[in-house]
Amino acid sequence: MYRSVVRGVGSYLPEKIMTNDDLSQIVDTSDEWIRKRTGIERRHIAADDEFTNDLAVAAAERALAAADMSAADIDLVILATTTPDNTFPATAAKVQARLGVTKGPAFDVQAVCSGFIFAMTQADNMLRLGQAKRALVIGAEIYSRILDWEDRSTCVLFGDGSGAIVLEAVDSEGANNERGVLTTILGTDGANYDKLYVDGGVATSGNAGCVRMAGQDVFRQAVARMSESVEEALEKAELTKDDLDWLVPHQANIRIIEQVGKKLGVSRDKVMITVQEHANTSAATVPLAMTHGVKHGHFKEGDVIALTAMGGGFTWGAIVLRW
Ligand code: ACO
Repeated sequence: MYRSVVRGVGSYLPEKIMTNDDLSQIVDTSDEWIRKRTGIERRHIAADDEFTNDLAVAAAERALAAADMSAADIDLVILATTTPDNTFPATAAKVQARLGVTKGPAFDVQAVCSGFIFAMTQADNMLRLGQAKRALVIGAEIYSRILDWEDRSTCVLFGDGSGAIVLEAVDSEGANNERGVLTTILGTDGANYDKLYVDGGVATSGNAGCVRMAGQDVFRQAVARMSESVEEALEKAELTKDDLDWLVPHQANIRIIEQVGKKLGVSRDKVMITVQEHANTSAATVPLAMTHGVKHGHFKEGDVIALTAMGGGFTWGAIVLRW
């Protein structure tokens, strides 16, 4: 059988930085309120001529370089995004062409903030089935284009950015002490469709719309779904919370992250936290946080790492892997 191993990670944040103080010039808010309620200090904003494919390509090139691979090695590209360049074709198609990948499929996955977990699960499934050998899995978002910049309850929470990983299929006996993705868990509860959504779209309004959210419902569900899915993924891998070396959660809000860590009994120094740097970049936060972990030498070979996210839909998921 095959198992997927992470060979390289990379991320990209646009040059322009918007601080909380900058935001307080636009809406009635303050650095103190944003830090206290969310942990966010700044976010990056894409330039007018930057598009989601640009962000995706930048992160993918860095992940390929880190993996010591080239486009010729890749035969699958999956891009998680809620903010595609165009309604169609998939932004992944442009990314594939720009990178020079010529083998296998390229497609987008839309699961909002859980998008990277959905995309990585899809890639893992295809690698395990032998349908591809090496996959680029990317999360890239330009949320600044779907925010209502007059709504202080949402516009302070998000930012633009991207992250990518290279996954490679390797032979495996299927034991949980071998490197690679051990288990994946995905879920959706469409009954919560209107708790976190965009008030536009191709079929409804003809424009992209803006993010709308029932903040406290999202908060509660995020804590429950992320902690439960990590527990489920660990159990499926025949591991326990005590085996967990690192938790890499979706970076939406420091208070959500802390509560997930607490529920799982993971000490704060074992939780990857980058939300202060880039705010919520939706499908890009998990690979951004993974890249931070690698860059700072946190992950050691053999570590058990749990990735988890929750987002609009509601969608959620967790991936347990051995580094
Ligand atoms: N600046 C100043 N005041 C604000 C701001 C702001 N940016 N936003 C809201 N307020 C005010 C409200 O108007 C309200 O004022 P009032 O008491 O006079 O009515 C007060 O602050 C409290 O508002 P609440 O909504 O009750 O604040 P809460 O403590 O719930 O925090 C927050 C709001 C930060 C949005 C929180 O609910 C949250 O983090 N929810 C999760 C949302 C999230 O992360 N979404 C991202 C997408 S989903 C995901 O990624 C998991």
